[in-house]
Amino acid sequence: MNAIETNYYKLLSSLSLAMDLGSRGLMYHHQRVALIALQIGKLYGLSQEQLERLFTAAILHDAGSSTWEEKQQLIEFNTTKTLNHCKKGYQLFYQHPLFHNIADIILYHHDRWDGLCNSSGRSKNEIPLESRIIHLADRIDVLVQDNVYVLGQKKQICRIINAESKRLLDPFLIEAFNDLSERECFWLDLHSEFIDDVLAHHCPVITKQLEVLEIMPIAQTMAKVIDFKSPFTRKHSVGVAEVCYFLAQKAGFTSGHCDILKVSGLLHDLGKLGIPDTILDKPGKLTSREFDIMKRHTYYTYHILKMVDGFGTINHYASCHHEKLNGRGYPFKLDGKEIKTGARIVAVADIFTALTEDRPYRKEMEKKQVVEILQDQVKAGVIDNELTILLLTNYEEALWSRQNCS
Ligand SMILES: [Fe+2]
Ligand SMILES: [Fe+2]
Ligand SMILES: [Fe+2]
Repeated sequence: MNAIETNYYKLLSSLSLAMDLGSRGLMYHHQRVALIALQIGKLYGLSQEQLERLFTAAILHDAGSSTWEEKQQLIEFNTTKTLNHCKKGYQLFYQHPLFHNIADIILYHHDRWDGLCNSSGRSKNEIPLESRIIHLADRIDVLVQDNVYVLGQKKQICRIINAESKRLLDPFLIEAFNDLSERECFWLDLHSEFIDDVLAHHCPVITKQLEVLEIMPIAQTMAKVIDFKSPFTRKHSVGVAEVCYFLAQKAGFTSGHCDILKVSGLLHDLGKLGIPDTILDKPGKLTSREFDIMKRHTYYTYHILKMVDGFGTINHYASCHHEKLNGRGYPFKLDGKEIKTGARIVAVADIFTALTEDRPYRKEMEKKQVVEILQDQVKAGVIDNELTILLLTNYEEALWSRQNCS
């Protein structure tokens, strides 16, 4: 269980869809920006190493923007409200074992070519080349409208982009864009049903295989993006992951399988990026309509993780955390027999973590109340009895692992 046959490109590309979920009208934004950036980078003569870095930065470039409101602002072509997500993206990556070399690129990816109003004080070639490429690709993509045939938009987009030459955008990169814009396929790719294949064709790192421990820092980054969506869940995913790992160890899982449980815990709420902030941050109980919307999150988690090769087990554990042993959970209404022990662990860890965290409408619960609720859930046929006993007999240790995660 230690090695997962998956690939770096597909993993990042699929996870990027979760970041697009909240952004109305900008589904596939990260994939399309990566696609445009790679083509401009190739025409500009970037080395293989630069292209790999460019892909990674492009596919993650707006990771610092978690709320729907902020994403909406970034869609506007002339937006000036960009600094916050650039800084947050930088903070996510600058000490990251895999992504530290893209932190600067992300920090400057909205810097103007002419330097006007750039808080970095940089202009022209002082801005990293990859940042300038992503900036151009990003602005091209926000101009593409979903509801108008793409070849009919070509002239207008070229006109707007060229008007920003030497102002917002790098004039030399715009020359490369003008070359690309002559090709119908450049535009058709942006509205393509085959974007996955197209991106795979242009992507430089498709064959990289990953070990579970190499996936961990990627999952940890996504967990931060998810948890930052709401001030009330700042440490929820990492907390669930630690409790999952703890329970898996106590249940006698191998060390590799414990790592799988941790990755599953980190990614279990991936689909929450597709739930409106107003529902996640609501200071009170959800109405039944709001709860119906909330139920979409595990459906999203399932379909995003399903795209990643080798993630079958992780996907089952992560996306079945609201299934119930009595068959009344969601979204698949799985029967108890179909819910594997790993998924049962995530379900118990999720409830335990939620009860011991502050929520908009209540403070964290005391042990007595938590024990009562968990035992009631067992009696109602929701969660696993043995795993709940395992958790309750090691309550303080489990709580410690949740509270001391970073
Ligand atoms: Fe951005
Ligand atoms: Fe963007
Ligand atoms: Fe959930």
